[in-house]
Amino acid sequence: MTSHQKVKYVLGVETSCDDTAIGIIDSSKNIIANIVLNQNNYHMEFGGIVPEIAARAHLSCIDIALKKALTKAKIKLEEIDLFCSTGGPGLIGGLIVGNTFCKTLAWSLKKPFLAINHLEGHALTARLLYDLNYPFLLLLVSGGHTQLIAVLNYGEYIRISTTLDDSAGETFDKAAKMMGLGQPGGPLIEKLSKEGNEHIFKFPRPLYKSKNPNFSFSGLKTAFSKTLNNLDINDNKHNLAASLQKTISDCLLDRTKLAIKIFKHIIKSNKVNLVIAGGVAANKKIRADLKYLSNKEDIKFYVPTIELCTDNGPMIAWAGFERYKHKKDTMFNFKPRPRWPLDPIAYKHNPTMRLIGKKGIKA
Ligand code: KG4
Ligand code: ZN
Repeated sequence: MTSHQKVKYVLGVETSCDDTAIGIIDSSKNIIANIVLNQNNYHMEFGGIVPEIAARAHLSCIDIALKKALTKAKIKLEEIDLFCSTGGPGLIGGLIVGNTFCKTLAWSLKKPFLAINHLEGHALTARLLYDLNYPFLLLLVSGGHTQLIAVLNYGEYIRISTTLDDSAGETFDKAAKMMGLGQPGGPLIEKLSKEGNEHIFKFPRPLYKSKNPNFSFSGLKTAFSKTLNNLDINDNKHNLAASLQKTISDCLLDRTKLAIKIFKHIIKSNKVNLVIAGGVAANKKIRADLKYLSNKEDIKFYVPTIELCTDNGPMIAWAGFERYKHKKDTMFNFKPRPRWPLDPIAYKHNPTMRLIGKKGIKA
């Protein structure tokens, strides 16, 4: 199949972390399968994701996920026109499993294969769900990343800011670990928060109100850990969770407010579309707070459905479909990339990025 032939069904494989996810979309933006097999039980006893265990679990689950996806979509494998898989950033073992699996399917059926940047998958999900045009401002908040990105067009990204240390998701996860809650921490903290008072504990909000648009969460993590040392966690768990969630949300809002100004300057217009994406965007308080900010700033706000905020296959299929429409070649010689920044020349716009390493930032 050449890149000019018509595409009806697109398969997306996502194995960059601990979810084995396969999705199928059609060219009219219908999500006809969204299978996620999570590995939480495998990693539970270790208190975090063990890369080698994740890779082996992907290997044993991936064909099951494919069968489930095809059954759900009620189509045959031969009907898939375009095969896409996350090429990075992520854990190398899982990336190799997903890429090899997807490439092999595509090769055997003589169909094109595309390796997709995981961050691009999150970044473009809102366009799969809504009638959203470029440009837009993206707050990308996942387990590995916390970034504000000006998405100017397909493939044109300007990173306005990033975290200098931990990501927002990592902060939720580490706090949950310290409280002995399990993983992933974000949903567990959110659940406890529902019965807590968010004003009881005052935690530091690193870089709050600073003119530097970047994020920082390590000071918050340390302060949270010190607070835990001085009280009975069980008696205070709801208030601790709610106060932490509020602090993280405050930081995200404050940095986004500054980024809106910078974005207006970049696009030379006051018409702003704000999008949030990534696992942390599943948090209802964070969604509500950003909606409030958007109303106050008189800008349009888009957020994917909860199941499309966390890692999923349809986002990879959609980003692949967008890429394909830009007539990009098939990518059978692609090597999975543990680090793969969306915007490799970010340092030109934000000098702090210069300090973060030439292979790209960690979070
Ligand atoms: O995007 P994602 O599924 O995987 C990565 O690309 O990293 O994001 C996972 C992160 C984890 O840190 C998890 O704790 C966080 O998203 N998360 C949440 C919620 N659901 C997932 N954080 C806060 N509230 C949630 N409801
Ligand atoms: Zn993700």
